[in-house]
Amino acid sequence: MGFERVVVTGGAGFLGSHVCEALLKRGARVVCVDDFRTGSPANLPDDPRLGLVVEDVTKPLDLLGDVDLVMHLACPASPVDYLRMPVDTLKTGGFGTLHALELARRKDARIVIASTSEVYGDPLEHPQRETYWGNVNPIGPRSVYDEAKRFGEAMTCAFRGEYGVDTGIVRIFNTYGARMRPDDGRMIPTFVRQARAGEPLTVHGDGRQTRSLCHVDDLVRGLLSMAESDHPGPVNLGNPEEVTVLEVARKVVELTGSTSAIEHVEAMTDDPRRRRPDISLARRVLGWQPEIGLDEGLRRSFDRELVG
Ligand SMILES: NC(=O)c1ccc[n+]([C@@H]2O[C@H](COP(=O)([O-])OP(=O)(O)OC[C@H]3O[C@@H](n4cnc5c(N)ncnc54)[C@H](O)[C@@H]3O)[C@@H](O)[C@H]2O)c1
Repeated sequence: MGFERVVVTGGAGFLGSHVCEALLKRGARVVCVDDFRTGSPANLPDDPRLGLVVEDVTKPLDLLGDVDLVMHLACPASPVDYLRMPVDTLKTGGFGTLHALELARRKDARIVIASTSEVYGDPLEHPQRETYWGNVNPIGPRSVYDEAKRFGEAMTCAFRGEYGVDTGIVRIFNTYGARMRPDDGRMIPTFVRQARAGEPLTVHGDGRQTRSLCHVDDLVRGLLSMAESDHPGPVNLGNPEEVTVLEVARKVVELTGSTSAIEHVEAMTDDPRRRRPDISLARRVLGWQPEIGLDEGLRRSFDRELVG
């Protein structure tokens, strides 16, 4: 890979730390920009080629020296986090993305923006293709995240159109793996924590809502393929294997050898019923598709102490 110095915003978070690790492995120098609001310095690889800037991306970003790639991942991603800081999440999606784009423009660098399947809201089209405009409730509680990401996509397109910045948008679907916080509220770390503690696994609603879960190693490969391409996106990255939430809960119980029961609790507001990426575009333009199935991915995550 041709990248010499890469800025990774949100590099101390779940996905960002895996991205930093993969870039270092490929020989790049990496600068992580993070204020640890949902990440941790403990996630960062111990490597002299990794620099750290402790900064809030809602403030303008200035860095000395050449940069040939910006991976913009900084943003609270778990509902527990973004519902706790709604205004800050909107600011991060808006000003944070603006500042990352300005940095890429100044440095003449390619920039890859982490958008999300949440831009599709509660989708009326299934599976979701990149051409689908989405079904987001603009004033629902989740809108602080969804609309911030939609705004970020619009800003990215404007920078490409008006200033010719080499931008790429990826829409990431649910991803899991090592280094997710046990208390971050996302489904897999929650189930694993509950199963290990012998507590009931809490399934919202009837559990028949579906998710498509991608292992982090697959996702990072997709992100780097997007970085290496010159495609503007948006490109869906996710695993099209669709499972119900109830199936995931049962699998976690089985694979952890837990005796936990499954308990149904109140459905979440605006929780999407179905989620599955159409990844034809990623296959065609990036030559990418996931290789790790759910059983294998869960085993890898447990091996690497997913939840400490
Ligand atoms: N993990 C997924 O399933 C998923 C799905 C869709 C999209 N994404 C996107 O991928 C990116 C990374 O997600 P993640 O799962 O690693 O989340 P995460 O919360 O683990 O990591 C986010 C990182 O960004 C940092 N950060 C947040 N706001 C910041 C700010 N204003 N200034 C500086 N640093 C800030 C946090 O401290 C953290 O280290 C996010 O943009 C998210 O929206 C993730």
